[in-house]
Amino acid sequence: MDWNAKQYDHQHDFVFKYGSALLGYLPRSASTVLDIGCGTGELTHQIQQLGHRVTGIDQSAAMIHQATYQFPEVNFQQGDILHMPIAPASYDVIFSNAVFHWIADQQHLTRILELALKPGGRLICEFGAQGNIKAISDAFGTELAAIGKRYRSPFYFPSVPEYTQLLKTRHFIIVKAREYPRPTVLKGGWQGLRNWVRQFFAADLAELPNADEILDNMEARLKPILWRGDHWEADYRRIQVIAQKQSAF
Ligand code: BEZ
Repeated sequence: MDWNAKQYDHQHDFVFKYGSALLGYLPRSASTVLDIGCGTGELTHQIQQLGHRVTGIDQSAAMIHQATYQFPEVNFQQGDILHMPIAPASYDVIFSNAVFHWIADQQHLTRILELALKPGGRLICEFGAQGNIKAISDAFGTELAAIGKRYRSPFYFPSVPEYTQLLKTRHFIIVKAREYPRPTVLKGGWQGLRNWVRQFFAADLAELPNADEILDNMEARLKPILWRGDHWEADYRRIQVIAQKQSAF
């Protein structure tokens, strides 16, 4: 996905604003932290300000460019977590906000989480849960079906039992796991939904000759469900997991 880093920072700043609640699960003592999918680096910077030695990684060159520009004193690296060289047992903490749902190969990802953490190390993550953006996805699917296409969600939105089970197979002990609805205000008034769909469904929209018509129809379809008079409220659901890699097994 080709991310628009400036738009992400201005229109979708809720991504890191909500994520700052996760910072409370960091250890009190100075730790080595890997922030997976750091985006424009706001949370990575906050982690460093809390006294930790942090590396922020992101697949998007645009995001890393913006992160480095904003926070030159923080260590950022561009790369795909599934294909980066990471030394075994090199981090006390792996932190990730609003990213894991983009990674289809969760077997591979969780293998890397296990590998990269030191024994006893902590995973702190939050991302889309089962049912996340269901109304928006259903509306998009209905529009695609009307032109003879099928929507295949690229996202991984697990339930708590599914995800915690996966982590247990990777020798994690679950400290805390919960799913919760987190309705999310989209900035930009009536344009907010359209901007969101343009940013996050960009790859699907790029293949459609009638993207504007589809967006018009989605607004009409979703107005009774997600329009709140002067803004859109996206139907986000979150899964939050704090887990510890077993010390020995
Ligand atoms: C999310 O943060 O839940 C999300 C963002 C973009 C697309 C899909 C889900």
